Amino acid sequence: MPVTTALYGSRPEKIKALLDDIEQSFELDEEALKTITGQFLADFNLGLSEYGQAMAMIPTFVTGVPNGTETGTFLALDLGGTNLRVCQVDLFGDQTFNLKQQKYKVSEQLKTGEATVLFDYLADSVDAFLTSSAGSPTNPHTPGELGQDPPALPLGLTFSFPVEQTALDQGYLLTWTKGFAAKNAVGKDVVKLLQDAFDRKHLHVKCVALVNDTVGALLSRAYTSGGCILGAIFGTGTNGAYVEQVANITKLGNHPIVAKGGEMIVNTEWGGFNNSRTALPTTPFDNKLDRESINPHYQAFEKFISGMYLGEITRNILLSLIDAAPIPILFKGKASDQLNKHYGLDTEMLSLIETAWMSEDAPADTAAAHAPLVPSDAAAPVAHVEKIDDSLLLDFSKPLVAAALTPLTLHRLQRIRTVLVSQLGYAAEDVTLRDAAVVRWACSLVVRRAARLSSCAVATVAHQMGFVAGLGSDAKPVGDTDVKIGVDGSLIQHYPRFEARMRESLRILVGANVEQRIEIGLAKDGSGVGAALSALQATKQGAL
Ligand code: GLC
Repeated sequence: MPVTTALYGSRPEKIKALLDDIEQSFELDEEALKTITGQFLADFNLGLSEYGQAMAMIPTFVTGVPNGTETGTFLALDLGGTNLRVCQVDLFGDQTFNLKQQKYKVSEQLKTGEATVLFDYLADSVDAFLTSSAGSPTNPHTPGELGQDPPALPLGLTFSFPVEQTALDQGYLLTWTKGFAAKNAVGKDVVKLLQDAFDRKHLHVKCVALVNDTVGALLSRAYTSGGCILGAIFGTGTNGAYVEQVANITKLGNHPIVAKGGEMIVNTEWGGFNNSRTALPTTPFDNKLDRESINPHYQAFEKFISGMYLGEITRNILLSLIDAAPIPILFKGKASDQLNKHYGLDTEMLSLIETAWMSEDAPADTAAAHAPLVPSDAAAPVAHVEKIDDSLLLDFSKPLVAAALTPLTLHRLQRIRTVLVSQLGYAAEDVTLRDAAVVRWACSLVVRRAARLSSCAVATVAHQMGFVAGLGSDAKPVGDTDVKIGVDGSLIQHYPRFEARMRESLRILVGANVEQRIEIGLAKDGSGVGAALSALQATKQGAL
């Protein structure tokens, strides 16, 4: 942790120096962005040439991208985000689809117990879904005409973990990520693990294709918008899959697919970028998170970026300010039970804080405007207080009192206080306006860094695919085609201004021309639709 001991004391300028230090450690200037992206490009090429690299650059054997004319009805099973989902997807062939889905919880016990128990649960969930849609064409218990067995229902599996794929319907788990650690799965073919579970339960379902969620995002975005070169997830985890020239995937050696040439989707597993952290701007808050994580030293990039971790990094910052000695900087030194708990601060709370801070509501319109003030917030008589600018909210040399704030700023800080009370278990009187301002500042540092780092990954793909040459002030656009990206995940979908922040630094890295050509669109239901599209490809290839 940064020095928050007596050395710093309680003097305002010392507090300022401490906060400035923290802020500085989260900053990424043009040079840093370029260095990280340069390293990213080098690691892309290393991963394309050798197996066993941290950024695995996994060939997916998906060689075509849909154009929206695909048709059929498929089952999809999606494991790897916050929930497990079973879906039935109808592709109508006109870039549209219908998706019916059911979500199931995956308990911590399932995530960390025996793999067969987890896969049995997956099979049970598929069974429950099919039973609840009894009478639909996908019901496995519907007898076939003339008493014949109906053909097995084709299912596409979206499995959002690093899997070394050897065929469309075969892939070996390299490692678990995102808090999963089920035993006896690493090194095994996950399609077989799932199929065995279906067979144990006599389910008439056949897993015909395996895709990563990033590949699903790419395929589904291509289906709905007529093209896509990168599928990226910014959610519980982060990762990207893009379209690469087969000739560049030199580690494929003499594989028969190489002779056919053309393109193949590569799952980068960019969450594992720079595990050595030589290029990533690691702070003590990140080190604490990594040390206490289920997979220390792995998934370094993901731990800076994704929804699973941003709340925890912020919690680490807040705790260091609460623990500052001899005088605490935050919450008068008091931590709520929630804040004391490992992963007790959810990334969603960061999102609520930012939303509160950006609120433009007329102050009088909300209950928050009438929230009781902490006595210290109302300290000075109104007439004697000079108004202060938002940039001075962290100026500890003056008390931060309600009367010094514009009505809008006051209203925003009060809304933040409401979030802290409802989400973190503080009593309203424990949260001063200053506390609210400090928490907002900490959230914005963590998320801004995440968005800027995300732009390095996107810039790397733009570079690798030849849409831009050079980086930073040397960046030169190549060609003039649109660069279509399909995205999914809670951060990019719901976090206020995540994309805008990402674009700011993307502009620095690839120049305004290329940044404007980058079209970022939601890969709606990417995991379900992508799995259906790959199941379609598998049935065409005769895997059934
Ligand atoms: C993790 C997984 C990766 C997945 C990503 C997003 O990084 O390793 O396979 O695509 O999370 O869900």
